[in-house]
Amino acid sequence: MKCYSEMNRDELMSEKNVLQGKYEEFKNEGLSLDMSRGKPGSEQLDISMPMLDVLSSESDCRTDEGFDCRNYGILDGIPAVKKMFADILEVSSDEVFVGGNSSLNMMFDTISCLMTQGAPGCEPWIKQGNIKFLCPVPGYDRHFGVTEYYGIEMINVPMDSNGPDMDLVEQLVSSDEKIKGIWCVPKYANPTGITYSDEVVRRFAALKPAAKDFRIIWDNAYVIHDVADEGDKLLNLMDECKKNGTEDLPIMFTSTSKITFPGAGVAVMACSENNMKSFKERYKFQTIGYDKINQLRHLRYLKDSSGLIEYMKKHKAVIAPKFKCVLDALESEVRETGCAKWENPNGGYFVSVDVMNGTAKEVVRLCKEAGVVLTGAGATYPYGKDPDDSNIRIAPTYPSVEELEKAVKIFCVCVKLAAVNKLLG
Ligand SMILES: Cc1ncc(COP(=O)(O)O)c(C=O)c1O
Repeated sequence: MKCYSEMNRDELMSEKNVLQGKYEEFKNEGLSLDMSRGKPGSEQLDISMPMLDVLSSESDCRTDEGFDCRNYGILDGIPAVKKMFADILEVSSDEVFVGGNSSLNMMFDTISCLMTQGAPGCEPWIKQGNIKFLCPVPGYDRHFGVTEYYGIEMINVPMDSNGPDMDLVEQLVSSDEKIKGIWCVPKYANPTGITYSDEVVRRFAALKPAAKDFRIIWDNAYVIHDVADEGDKLLNLMDECKKNGTEDLPIMFTSTSKITFPGAGVAVMACSENNMKSFKERYKFQTIGYDKINQLRHLRYLKDSSGLIEYMKKHKAVIAPKFKCVLDALESEVRETGCAKWENPNGGYFVSVDVMNGTAKEVVRLCKEAGVVLTGAGATYPYGKDPDDSNIRIAPTYPSVEELEKAVKIFCVCVKLAAVNKLLG
C-alpha cells in the first residue's frame, strides 16, 4: 500500500470506498466495546484476592516492632512498608511518607499545601499572584485537572521519545519566577509510554529555576509496570539532584493502584528532608494516621520490593498480549498509510496514537458510532484542548483480548477513513 500523502485523488477515492464499506459492516454489527478506561481488567484484580485474607488474628496485625496496627499512630507509615517503597523509588526510608489509598489525592494535597502554606521559607503560592505550571503534552488529564482546579495557568511543553522538550523547560523555568512546577510521569509516561532518558533526568536535576519554590512533581505511577521482557531503566532523579544540591526540587509519588486494587491500594510520597518536614507539619493536622491495616495487608502479601517486582510479572502475563494486540494491528493496518504515529511502549497502561492533524475528534466520533468508546480527543491536553486535534489515548488493559481485537480493527479503519476524508477535503 502507498502512503496516503502520495496517493492521487482517484486512489484516495477508491481507498475511501473500501474503508467506508468496512466501516458500515462494523456499524451493522451493533457492537459495544470500550478502550477508554485506564484500569486493570478483572483478571488482574483476581491476582490480588488472596491479599484480603492475610490478616485474621491479633498477632497478624502487629508490625515487626510489635506495634498494633489496629490502633491510631505512625503518621508516616509502617517502617517495613516505607522500606519497601523506598527500595522501589530508590530513595531512603526517611525520604518516604506512606499515605492513604491514592497518589493523586497526595498530589492534590501537595499542590494545596504549596498554595496555602508555601514551600519552606517561601510565600504561599496563592499570595504570589498568577502562578503557572508546565505541562508536558500529551499528558495525564487528572494532573491537569488539579492545576486547573486551583486556577494555575498551564503551559504546554511538547514531549518526544526522550521526555519533555528540555530546551524549552530550561528556558521557561529559568526566566519566569511565576512558573512554580511541572507535572512529570517519568517512566512509561501516561499516555505516550516513553521513559525519560538519562540526559533528560540529569537536566531536570540541574535546573536553575527563577522561582525558589519551583517543584518537579515526579509521578512515578508506573515505576515497576513492565510489559516487555526487557523493561526501561529510569535514572534516579533524587541521586542526580543530590549531586547538584537541588534535592528540594522533586516530590515523588507512586501507588499500588495498578498493582493490587485501584482505590484500595497504598500511596506514597518521597521527597527531601526539608520538604518532608513541611509536609508532615501539615499532615499532622490532617489525619491521626492512615490505614495501617491496609499497609500491613500489602506488606504481608507482597513481602518486600523484590516480592513486589516478582509480583508484577503476573500482571505482565495478563496485559502483554493486550498491548501486542493493539500494536500489531496498528503496525499491519496503519503503518504503511503513514497517517498516524505511535510509540511501542515497554510498560505502563497506554498506547498513545497521533492520528493525522485535525482528525482526532472525527476518529473518536466515528468509533463511537461504530460502538467503540475511546477517551475523548483533547483529554491528554490542559483544558482539554489539543491544538493539533491529533492525540488519542488507547487503554488496552480493561477489555479482553477478543474485545480488543475487534475494537482496534474498527479504530484502525476509523483512523484511515478520517485521514482519507481529510485529504479529499
Ligand atoms: C500517571 C498517573 N498517576 C496517578 C494515577 C492515579 O493513581 P492513584 O490511584 O494512586 O491515585 C494514575 C491513574 O491512572 C496515573 O495514570
